[in-house]
Amino acid sequence: MNLKEEIIKKISMELMMDFQSIENILEIPPELQMGDYALPCFQLAKRFKKSPNLIASELGKKITCNETVEKVEIVGGYVNIFLNKEKFIRETLLNIVKAGEKYGSSMIGNGKTVVVEFSSPNIAKPFHVGHMCSTVIGNSIERLYKYLGHKTVRINHLGDWGTQFGKLISAYKHWGNEEELKHNPIKELLRIYVQFHDEAKNNPELEDEARIYFKKLEEQDSQTVLLWEKFREVSLNEFKRVYDTLGIEFDSYAGESFYSDKINEVVEIFDKEGLLRESENAKVVSLDEFSLPPCLIIKSDGATIYASRDLAAALYRKRTYDFDKCIYVVGTPQALHFQQVFNVLKIAGFEWYKDCIHVGFGMVRFKDKKMATRSGDVILLEDLLNEAQIKALKKINEISPALENKEDVAKKVGIGAVIYTYLKSGRENDIVFSWDEMLNFEGESAPYVQYTYARGKSVLGKAGSLPENADYSMLRCPEEYILIKLLHDFENILMDAAQKYEPFIITKYITSVARAFNKFYKFCPVLKADEETKKARIHLTQATCNVIKTGFNLLGIEVPERM
Ligand code: ARG
Repeated sequence: MNLKEEIIKKISMELMMDFQSIENILEIPPELQMGDYALPCFQLAKRFKKSPNLIASELGKKITCNETVEKVEIVGGYVNIFLNKEKFIRETLLNIVKAGEKYGSSMIGNGKTVVVEFSSPNIAKPFHVGHMCSTVIGNSIERLYKYLGHKTVRINHLGDWGTQFGKLISAYKHWGNEEELKHNPIKELLRIYVQFHDEAKNNPELEDEARIYFKKLEEQDSQTVLLWEKFREVSLNEFKRVYDTLGIEFDSYAGESFYSDKINEVVEIFDKEGLLRESENAKVVSLDEFSLPPCLIIKSDGATIYASRDLAAALYRKRTYDFDKCIYVVGTPQALHFQQVFNVLKIAGFEWYKDCIHVGFGMVRFKDKKMATRSGDVILLEDLLNEAQIKALKKINEISPALENKEDVAKKVGIGAVIYTYLKSGRENDIVFSWDEMLNFEGESAPYVQYTYARGKSVLGKAGSLPENADYSMLRCPEEYILIKLLHDFENILMDAAQKYEPFIITKYITSVARAFNKFYKFCPVLKADEETKKARIHLTQATCNVIKTGFNLLGIEVPERM
């Protein structure tokens, strides 16, 4: 239990309220002279039928000063709590230095399995900047849950099945070019797909032909399957290049096609429960009781559909991984789809439907017009990542011309800058790209944090090996205290981010750690301090570097040791 938790527990006992409710209202005041924690009593007035001021003064008297709490002050409706700084600093730093790169990790998830489905692009289509949202948010959520002790499974639910593949096969038979498919697969597949739609306007029979091909595919016709497999393979190779650049791997690429032969079981289950209704020859499950449109399970021509494949996938995952949570990182426009799927599971009697969670996100916009498009409206992710690395290299050449491994550093900085941009605000907010902001070494950006980390590492390098012991009572400057308080909060930040499925909470936090470290660095000399102070400050620097590195790793961003 850390000190913050100790205080929350004390208050919750005195007020006879649960831990969580107190945690929700306990604040960290903006100024040090207002205390380390403050409990505003305004929200409690109704509950206790007393004025906030009275609640505050009564509570204040009950929180006695002890080893942990040095002073309690009542200011209006606030109870301001001042910690015993020396104890706080000592315990926090000892804890971090001892835990090293494991600081903040937890066993809370031990014995629990979390499936995280993310990225899930559609094959034969370009991997564009929008897919990056799901990719980086999902990657971060998975890392976070793992760090908190869960067993995790990373699934890429590829969009590799559906009527559009009937169209693609028909198009390829008419206008496909094998050579092009080899050298420029996605471009070629996109070209023939567009051509299909153009031609089908005047020649509607093409649509029928496509339906027949998809039917053949579902019936496992070997010629048709062979072609589809090729499309899948060449697309996946393209996607894997991007995943490699990002350092992302998956445990499973079981996409929609994987479930095509598992739909019958779904249909049988729903049929047995009497849930299937015929509607214009299609089979649907009515969701009237939830005021939702019916969920289509089998189309009138007998073909399976997106939703039924998702139902089969949910059943399969529950059976295979026995998950405690199954997280779907998919854009918010699909919220209705997931409500339908989860509610169908509910009425079919699968209690675990409540463990299925849709984690949505907003859109990507570009501030720089220049950034948009080489080939029309989609921006290819690969182009964006390449450009980011080129620009980062240019910057590094300006600021550290003598640096070794400049390319490697530029990769970490460039890719990091892109990931940071995706993870710097709440999921549901739109993401706005601007090169200036992304690569601003002084602003709210990955390079700023990375640079700070490298600065810390450089101090540590000059100091030699980490002193075994340090007297933390030497740390008496407000800049030191503010930094230590932030570091103390890491565990709570991780919990909060995991509970809300919001990696940006970590991004914001790590950025403020970097900012606080830079203030400390400016006002509290490390290497030039007297011997005892120096040792303590080296420990603080080491603790900060640990937290920055771990936090950034949880976002999927690497930190260069030198910059
Ligand atoms: N392939 C889909 C798309 O690009 C996303 C898949 C989402 N996952 C799911 N289980 N339906 O829109």
